[in-house]
Amino acid sequence: MNYQVVIPAAGQGKRMNAGKNKQFIELEQAPIIIHTLKVFEEHSICSGIILVINEQERNDFQKLLDDYHIRKIKYIVAGGSERQFSVYNGLQAVDDCGIVLVHDGARPFISHKKIEDLVHKAQESGAATLAVPVKDTIKRVENGVVVETVERSTLWSVQTPQAFIPSLVIDAHHQANKDNYLGTDDASLIERTGKPVSIVLGDYTNIKLTTPEDLLIAKAIMGK
Ligand code: CTP
Ligand code: MG
Repeated sequence: MNYQVVIPAAGQGKRMNAGKNKQFIELEQAPIIIHTLKVFEEHSICSGIILVINEQERNDFQKLLDDYHIRKIKYIVAGGSERQFSVYNGLQAVDDCGIVLVHDGARPFISHKKIEDLVHKAQESGAATLAVPVKDTIKRVENGVVVETVERSTLWSVQTPQAFIPSLVIDAHHQANKDNYLGTDDASLIERTGKPVSIVLGDYTNIKLTTPEDLLIAKAIMGK
């Protein structure tokens, strides 16, 4: 089944500390956002991309799309002050499609295989996210003292893409807005409605480029 993808790229990249939106940082001859967009451009079952940007950067994004011949963009939508608002704006532009994906612009190493696994699962269950088992021991800490060591076998690090039946995720966003609820991912907005979110095993290489050392890891992943 075909899917459309909403790609939020309207952040500021503060933790990357690059003095600009991290989407524009060059990695092996192309900006991060181009690496991400190319995955979807080259995926035959992706029928359209909705790119969410900061309005002030519209010309810069448009020039990159032209220079790198990205042709599947259906809409370029203005983002909001939080990721959740950016995704919400992007979802308004989704056409009638079987499945909608939300994928961070800052996550360039997603594979076609994992996207397909995810789309299949979302068709079955309505909502699905890629995730990988946590490798570290995680402790809950209060005032500098350990309160609890959380049972690791139940912990997963959640990634994007996350895939949904469109009406399900749009309704969940509406409800979150109404309740003034701000989540750090879109799946959490579904979870709070009581509906199930399925987990699909991701790759550890599908990192989000967040802090400067992630650029070193990115180079290693690209050189592999
Ligand atoms: N994003 C967005 N709109 C926002 C905030 C974030 O579209 N208001 C996007 C980012 O551009 C990124 C993705 O959501 O592709 C994941 O967010 P994150 O990694 O936190 O990126 P930034 O918000 O840009 O970085 P930081 O939090 O360090 O400022
Ligand atoms: Mg952020």
